[in-house]
This record gives sequence, C-alpha cells and structure tokens, in this order.
Amino acid sequence: MIDFHTHILPAIDDGSRDIEQTKELLRQAHEQGIHHILATPHFYADRDSAGRFLKKREESFDEVKKLREKEEWIPEIRTAAEVYYFPGIGKADVLPKLCMEGSRLLLLELPFAQWTNGMYRDVEDIIDKQKLIVMLAHVERYYEFQKDKRTWRDMFELPVYAQINAGSFLRHGKRSFGLKFIKAGHRVILGSDCHNPEIRPSNLGVGREVISKKLGDGVLEEIDARGRLLWEHAE
Ligand SMILES: [Fe+2]
Repeated sequence: MIDFHTHILPAIDDGSRDIEQTKELLRQAHEQGIHHILATPHFYADRDSAGRFLKKREESFDEVKKLREKEEWIPEIRTAAEVYYFPGIGKADVLPKLCMEGSRLLLLELPFAQWTNGMYRDVEDIIDKQKLIVMLAHVERYYEFQKDKRTWRDMFELPVYAQINAGSFLRHGKRSFGLKFIKAGHRVILGSDCHNPEIRPSNLGVGREVISKKLGDGVLEEIDARGRLLWEHAE
C-alpha cells in the first residue's frame, strides 16, 4: 500500500510540527499496512526558491532517516513536493527537481477557484513540452469551484493522474464525488494528505475500506496496481 500525498516531514510546512509528530504519523501509517510513503511538503514558488526548499527538505528528511535507522518498522519514504500552481508553470524549468526523486512524477496543486484555459494550457505544457507525469493533488477539493465545467472536463482528458484524499471517503457529503469519479474510469491514485496525528491523520487504510465496501476489492486492486507502476516506473 502506497500513500502518495503526505506532509510527514518535520518542521518544513503546515504538516508535522516535529520529529515526534512525524513518528506518530508514521506509526499510524504502519498500523494500516502502508509500506511506501511519498513525502510531499508544500512548495510555493512565490514564497520560496527551489534551492532553499530542497535544502530544507533534505535537512528535514535527514532527521527522518536517522529515526528510521533506529525504528525498523518505519515504511520506505521517498521525497517529492506538492507544487502549487502559478501562471507560466508549464514553462518553469524548476519542475524536474521537484518531482518524486528519481522520477518524472510531479504532484501539482491547482487553485481552489474556477479553472481557466490558461491553467489547462500550463498543465498541457508540463506534459507535452516538459515530458513530466502530472498527478493532480486532491481533485475532490476543486470540484465545487467549477461552475463552468468545460476546463474541468478538458483537464481530465489529458493523461493526468487524479489523486483523491482517503479522508474524503470518510465523509458522507464528499464520499459520492470520489466513488463516482472512480467509476467514471479516471486514473485515480490515493493519498492521505496527512498533516498531523490528531486533526489530519494518516487515514489511507480506513478510506480504502469504504472504497472496497462500495465498489469492491477489484477496483481497489486496479488503483493499487496503477500506484505501484507509478512508484516503480515513473522515470
Ligand atoms: Fe497536501
């Protein structure tokens, strides 16, 4: 089981505050059977330079690596970033450095607003010109802002992966979006988007139970197979 969206690295963004919280999040993940974790701290190009961000990420990750040397149960962790959209991102040469390490997979967060044609063209450029693989973060959170659905529909005609937060399956109001979206045949990937053990915990395992109950284990296996391919072959 792979968690593709987490804020488990300590003291780098609004996720884990310190190594103690990180350890607790990792314990929650481990108890749910998660063996692989992508660490995706927020990256905002208007607040940080990529160089500074990568240095901070390395320092934070070093702390976790030290912890992992002592605690053998800790899942395998790879670094990436949750990159927030900005106009012109399609041509930004910084993106490859922010991908999952050793891969071309980029976790992209889009604005919580009506999507525009410009955003669509940027995502298209990331895929066609930069030859990166785009995974859109927590797609269920944008839908309510799309009064005009044309760009939304066009966006998912692109070969993007659509990450859904497991927690959305635990909320009755939100659940139907994810279930319908999976049934519609989109390239869904799951993540917890965990930030801290109390309010935004690691909950991939419990979210998956809802999917398995409502849509069957076959659907979950398909999602897992897709995730494994990405984890191993997004080069
Ligand atoms: Fe996130």
